[in-house]
Amino acid sequence: MVESEPGNDGEPEAEATEKGSLQRLGDIDPAAAPRLFSGIGEFDRVLGGGIVPHSAVLIGGEPGVGKSTLLLEVSAALAQQGKTVLYYSGEESAQQIRLRADRLGIRSAGIFLFTSGSLEELKRHARETRPEFLIIDSIQTLTSRKTAAASGSIASLRNVTAEVIDLAKKSGITVFLIGHITKEGQLAGPKTLEHMVDAVLYFQGETQADLRLLRAEKNRFGPLNEIGIFQMSEKGLASVNDPTQVLIQNRLSRAPGTAIFPALNGTRPLLTEVQALVSESPFAGNPRRIAIGFDGYRLSMLISIIEKKLRLPFYKSDVFLNVTGGMVIREPAADLAVCQALVSSCRSIAPRANSVILGEVGLTGELRPVSFLETRLKEAIRQGFSTIFLPALQCDKKLIPNFQDISAIPIESIRDLQEHLRK
Ligand SMILES: Nc1ncnc2c1ncn2[C@@H]1O[C@H](COP(=O)(O)OP(=O)(O)OP(=O)(O)O)[C@@H](O)[C@H]1O
Ligand SMILES: [Mg+2]
Repeated sequence: MVESEPGNDGEPEAEATEKGSLQRLGDIDPAAAPRLFSGIGEFDRVLGGGIVPHSAVLIGGEPGVGKSTLLLEVSAALAQQGKTVLYYSGEESAQQIRLRADRLGIRSAGIFLFTSGSLEELKRHARETRPEFLIIDSIQTLTSRKTAAASGSIASLRNVTAEVIDLAKKSGITVFLIGHITKEGQLAGPKTLEHMVDAVLYFQGETQADLRLLRAEKNRFGPLNEIGIFQMSEKGLASVNDPTQVLIQNRLSRAPGTAIFPALNGTRPLLTEVQALVSESPFAGNPRRIAIGFDGYRLSMLISIIEKKLRLPFYKSDVFLNVTGGMVIREPAADLAVCQALVSSCRSIAPRANSVILGEVGLTGELRPVSFLETRLKEAIRQGFSTIFLPALQCDKKLIPNFQDISAIPIESIRDLQEHLRK
């Protein structure tokens, strides 16, 4: 139990930019608050095409992945456009941030920095500098006098976040909050804060050491699962322009146990490699099924369908499934690609060269259509893939771009897959 006092902190409230009056929806001018572009392409993309003014965005990520770097770069880009940015860092000293800024080549007068302090001090600085953007690095290090006793607790974190968002909305500030991810314990991870903010982005580091993915897990103003891809270097984060190339460049072509799936992340099609390893299990009767970047239950389901329809002996095999490059696939459209990787590994047959594969698999082994077929296929063709395995229902000239130049192979049921792998 924690003692707490009701009431406000005696400070004047920030000036309201909007009256709390009743308005007709139709009377509100949408052009009054247009989106703003930071100029960092991948960042704007993940936010749904630019920053929505007065929004609150939470960015979570493992320690050291580059959250502070990203937001310092965003601050610099905004400051360059003449915006005022107030940057709070509770984790690094002003000198350390200056050193980072020098390394990244950032020199900006438009960024105000303060490194130690409380919520009350933040409010004071915000009144003085009247920033358009506020960066909180990190929300876990910001405390309030009101809840000082419980600083670090979930209740305090919620309270501080609510106050920061309130300040931002009332004063017309756009706020970016950095949140730490912790497994369990005193500090609350971004999960508890997710409902309070407009967008939640996760910043992930990937196996290919310098690749970083920014993913929208929640966005009130843009598509879900939109991803931005960066490359980290000494000079900072650089947007990756052709991510497909980065994702599939290291693959061995025609290796058994692989499939290339044209995935859709938000609005962007991305060719993604699915790999499977099927090997005899030392644990008779209780083989392992491990999926990385794919739903484990769905993998089990697909294995059962293959077992039943193709009579392959999966019951005595360990199965490992991996989506390379740290990508995550949540679309049922990837079912057939997963099945190809599984069957191809199990029978040690390489898939067709230069082929992509897509389709949802039903419980009877039938193939179901996928969404956004044209967008996916355009990307595959642009990357030089010439053979496409797709649901028979969608094997239609009108649906497929460049129909005459590619070979589109209809798959009606999962049995057809085996036929094609045999050829
Ligand atoms: N000189 C350098 N050359 C290349 N990369 C560097 C260099 N210095 C830092 N980095 C990269 O920056 C990352 C740290 O970035 P940053 O401090 O922004 O992470 P963070 O997510 O804010 O971490 P924390 O959670 O600890 O605050 C390192 O993991 C490294 O990849
Ligand atoms: Mg940091």
